Amino acid sequence: MCGIVGYIGEKNSNEVIFNGLTRLEYRGYDSAGIGVQDNGIQQVKTAGKVADLIKACQLENFPQSQVGIGHTRWATHGVPNNLNAHPHKDNSGKFTLVHNGIIENYLSIRKLLSKNGIECKSETDTEVLVQLIGYIYNKENISFEEAVRSALVEVIGAYGIVVLCSDEPNKMVAAKKGSPLVLGVGENEFIIASDTSPIINYTRKIIYLDDGEILICDKNNFAVKNIDENIEVSKTINEIKYSLDQIEKSGYDHFMLKEIHEQPTSIAESMRGRIIKNDGKIKLGGLQDHLHDILNTKRIIITACGTSWHAGLIGSYVIEELVRMPVNVEYASEFRYRETVVGPDTVIFAISQSGETADTLAAIKKAKSLGALTVGIVNTVGSSIARETDCGVYIHAGPEIGVASTKAFTSQVTVLNLIAILMAQVKDQNIKEVSHLINDLELLPQKVNEILTNTDEIQEVAKHFIDAENFLYLGRGYQFPVALEGALKLKEISYIHAEGYPAAEMKHGPIALIDENMPVVFIVTKKGYEKILSNIKEVTSRGGKVIIITSFDRDELYEISKFVIKVPEIHQCILPILTTIPLQILAYNIAKNKGCNVDQPRNLAKSVTVE
Ligand code: UD1
Ligand code: GLU
Ligand code: MG
Repeated sequence: MCGIVGYIGEKNSNEVIFNGLTRLEYRGYDSAGIGVQDNGIQQVKTAGKVADLIKACQLENFPQSQVGIGHTRWATHGVPNNLNAHPHKDNSGKFTLVHNGIIENYLSIRKLLSKNGIECKSETDTEVLVQLIGYIYNKENISFEEAVRSALVEVIGAYGIVVLCSDEPNKMVAAKKGSPLVLGVGENEFIIASDTSPIINYTRKIIYLDDGEILICDKNNFAVKNIDENIEVSKTINEIKYSLDQIEKSGYDHFMLKEIHEQPTSIAESMRGRIIKNDGKIKLGGLQDHLHDILNTKRIIITACGTSWHAGLIGSYVIEELVRMPVNVEYASEFRYRETVVGPDTVIFAISQSGETADTLAAIKKAKSLGALTVGIVNTVGSSIARETDCGVYIHAGPEIGVASTKAFTSQVTVLNLIAILMAQVKDQNIKEVSHLINDLELLPQKVNEILTNTDEIQEVAKHFIDAENFLYLGRGYQFPVALEGALKLKEISYIHAEGYPAAEMKHGPIALIDENMPVVFIVTKKGYEKILSNIKEVTSRGGKVIIITSFDRDELYEISKFVIKVPEIHQCILPILTTIPLQILAYNIAKNKGCNVDQPRNLAKSVTVE
């Protein structure tokens, strides 16, 4: 994960870097650092947040410069402290480097360096790379650029790096393999960053670096070369399409709350132009040329991590119901290393908000190498997964900054429904059911809005449970993935242990946990109502406290529990969207009342670009 910014130009680089790191803080926030050119390399590093780094720089009268790099860390190797924070310098003091990723062969490089009298000071994998660059440079008497390139050839693992060298103070070198890097192309200035958010204030012109590429720039010119062959490659300039207020909090206390409230719009955006008014047909431009191949494969595998995996599970139910094709859902981290039966007769749907999730990206690469067709369902336009997949559908939910995913999830479920409908339409299958679902999809943003206009009740419920230590979430059918997602939201941001289960599985284990201290959230719908009612009774008769989220408004529910939250009724394939929203709000309010940092939960980062 980690956020990286590098600047070279005519502005005060501290300012660009601090602003950029603040925007990138969703990617990591355990420690931060800055390094600039000022008669040699000057740097400050602090454990803690970017704000702590800014304060420390003010206290130390940190020099202004026009060339600098910055980093906000999500530690993989070594505890988050000042020493392990980036940038890392080599022992000669000539080089400094920021890194996102993992240098997998760091131990063998460290040994080699040690044999040559170079001892690393930190516990990080990163430091070996800058030490190796310094070692090669000082030994072989080559240029800054050549030293970085030669060192990278020795490295196994993933990296996005930006490097400075005090012997060539007007140059910046960056390279990428497996971790994202975007170059902002300004007037007499360049900004390199982990995503576009640090760039948008200065320019809308961007270039996505690809794996295996190295960038060399001064303030006026840049060149991108292939690391292995050292040949210059030509790059296309793209444009940032979103507006600045989309990545700011706009008056909300937290990004998560803002994003929860954006859902009527983000869901509408996911559908915009994709349901053709006069004939009710679905149009997904990204799938047009591949639909025939998708429908002619034997099975579908959906792969993802975390919340996207939950969306994938719902998607699998919808596709099996409407299209009648077999679908498996796999954690990308398992899929990539398992002996899976995948070949040209398989299609892989990969779901990722950021489009940079390392495990999901690796899963696609593996599937492609086995001959499978890969389809991305991604939010971030131009991201690695979007580019790596053969085709796909952008969910167009807009930038999601809150670490706990909300609007991306509901847009993923929306788009998975669109894909299933399109497949069913082309196969001429379940046409009546499908047209009913399309009607309901058009009502969806309005129904989401109904939930969001009155959240008082949910806020009230939240107040009763801030001291709970455990939570159980139970649902059946389409609501089982919702139970998983509700539990995940709660643990992510409130640090309360929570588990999601299929309601009927409760008696095979979790029921042993139920007592008067164990709140149980039930997601109740018309389908299977009697069955879940029995499960509720099983809990209340053991003294468990019950919170009910329901689309099926029955008096008896209010007799069972004083905590009943009603959501509108809608087609069961998209009902998970309506039942998830109260669970997002519940988790948000419990965490907020507990005083937790909702947008920056401990140990988590938004875009998991490490394994
Ligand atoms: C596209 C435009 C949209 C425009 C519409 C008009 C983009 C990003 N989208 O949307 O602004 O309103 O045409 O018809 O410019 N892709 C992948 N992998 C992924 C996601 C997408 O390969 O994970 C590919 C798709 O196959 C497609 C392209 O990226 O070729 C754009 O995808 P998408 O935005 O979903 O296509 P449209 O809805 O047609
Ligand atoms: N591996 C590096 C570290 O622990 C970078 C971590 C990351 O990119 O998340 O410092
Ligand atoms: Mg693509």
